[in-house]
Amino acid sequence: MTSYSAMHNKILDGQRVADAVLSSIKKEIESLRQRKPCLAVVLVGDDPASAIYVKRKTKACLETGFESIQKIFPATVSEEELTEYLLSLNASSNVDGILVQLPLPAHLNQRKITSLISPDKDVDGFHPVNLGKLVTEDSSGYVPCTPLGVKELLEASSVDLAGKHAVIVGRSTIVGKPLSLLLLQKQKGMNATVTCVHSYTHDLPLIVKQADLVVAAIGRAEFIRGEWIKEGAVVIDVGINRVEDASAKKGYRIVGDVEFEGALQRASLITKVPGGVGPMTIAMLLKNTYKSYKSKGIHV
Ligand code: GUN
Repeated sequence: MTSYSAMHNKILDGQRVADAVLSSIKKEIESLRQRKPCLAVVLVGDDPASAIYVKRKTKACLETGFESIQKIFPATVSEEELTEYLLSLNASSNVDGILVQLPLPAHLNQRKITSLISPDKDVDGFHPVNLGKLVTEDSSGYVPCTPLGVKELLEASSVDLAGKHAVIVGRSTIVGKPLSLLLLQKQKGMNATVTCVHSYTHDLPLIVKQADLVVAAIGRAEFIRGEWIKEGAVVIDVGINRVEDASAKKGYRIVGDVEFEGALQRASLITKVPGGVGPMTIAMLLKNTYKSYKSKGIHV
């Protein structure tokens, strides 16, 4: 039986690493004599989860000393109206970063809308120019925030992936695909052998069982079972899922894509949900926005 303190030492504390990133940015911003960095966050509709994420992003901006613009459109907004607003943000010299919270209502084409954001303000890293820079390892681009947060969390925990087998569960444009590219990069700590598995993959548990690093990003509560985790593997859980729980005050609790208690027994390092990748995503959003601000040469 592993002791409590040994268990505790296994936790990759995303909240702590994110707090350190944000407090270092905050310190730099406090000494700025020019205008502060500014992030514009756009929400379309009233999806409750998206509303919570947007609130957290705006709150982090204000706590870190950023300017923040928050714009909420009804779910029925036309493509023309949304386009016009995004183009006005592109043109504003006071705006460094622009983010449209996803998912968008079905009548809006996500790819088309995210591609309207100027690549040099695309702090979410979803524009094809920035995704192309990720492929070519051009560090002038913006890397999507959740994959970047996973990378920084691994680095902060001195995990060296060189030659290791990383299995990413999920192939989304927001997490799985860009994270595959990051972990493949010819860069200190990366250089992993990457397998990206998804709903069509045969023998998925067999592949996960071979992983030195498992990143779960499929959005299915506790899909990755504890017994699939190889002894000593590192486990990063990107999932945020609500499951009904009559004993909880709100009637539900939040769990990840990994069956935590089972995986904890086998993993050498593991993230919790909440308190793992989520705070890192927000910290990377502000880091990208500050990078955009600095690239304009107005920080002296
Ligand atoms: N929806 C889920 N994750 C994200 C994200 O990282 N950025 C945006 N804009 N929307 C999301």
